[in-house]
Amino acid sequence: MANIIDGKLVAAEVTSKVQELAAELVSQGCPPPGLAVIIVGEDPASQVYVSSKSKKAKECGFLSLQHTLPANTPQERLLGLIAELNADRRINGILVQLPLPGHIDAGKVIQAISPEKDVDGFHFVNVGKLSTGEVGTAFVPCTPAGSMLLLERARGRDLSGLTAVVVGRSNIVGKPMANLLLASNCTVTIAHSKTRDLPAVCRTADILVAAVGRPEMIRGDWIKPGATVIDVGINRVPAPEKGEGKSRLVGDVEFAGASAVAGAITPVPGGVGPMTIAMLMANTLASAYLSAGLARPRF
Ligand code: GUN
Repeated sequence: MANIIDGKLVAAEVTSKVQELAAELVSQGCPPPGLAVIIVGEDPASQVYVSSKSKKAKECGFLSLQHTLPANTPQERLLGLIAELNADRRINGILVQLPLPGHIDAGKVIQAISPEKDVDGFHFVNVGKLSTGEVGTAFVPCTPAGSMLLLERARGRDLSGLTAVVVGRSNIVGKPMANLLLASNCTVTIAHSKTRDLPAVCRTADILVAAVGRPEMIRGDWIKPGATVIDVGINRVPAPEKGEGKSRLVGDVEFAGASAVAGAITPVPGGVGPMTIAMLMANTLASAYLSAGLARPRF
């Protein structure tokens, strides 16, 4: 039976370290780290995410600003707000919640954020640093960064020579995760919807990362005995057994089957999910330390 990796616990440890280090910065006479979160439109799921990010930033002792803009906001207005926040010395991190309404060019908006304040790690400068192995100075996207911390908890910091398979090739998770694993000297395969014989590819993995967004697609018999499984998927599925109209969250991995074979596995919920916000706080703290001319804290 696999070891269950407790993402809530690791996220709480990261958050309390961020709180301590933010307080230390202030005790040295620096302003607190500042995070600005922008949401455009009324997508309910995005609203929940954004308010939890703003709330967590306050808990960490940060200056936390939230800009809620109507769905019909012109792109130029959003770019104007980003320019203001780029110039605002109180702000160390700027996050524009995705997806954006269709009339806005998300790529253009992301590239307008100053790379030094790009705590999502989506700007080309940060993507380029990560893909050239400059992991030490890049802002790394929060979900893959959190997944790496969980992986290190399960297997230790030395992942050298292990075979890793990442299922999913998104810019937010799959590609940066593959680059992080490569920077840690793993032998990395990125699998995706066109991969032939995906079960056989997954069976080669000492480390299997599932980030496809398809409920319980990866089955127990796709997993190498003893492998570490990081399930990034968060899928809401109907749960009639809980009553009419009820639902539950499941990952991209079929948990019962996988946990009988794997050496360690992240649950859903309570695995990678809580790490994403914790790493956003860690990135914002790092930005504040760098702008104060101090060494970047490590997690
Ligand atoms: N929407 C879903 N995930 C993310 C994320 O990590 N960052 C941003 N900005 N938007 C998202």
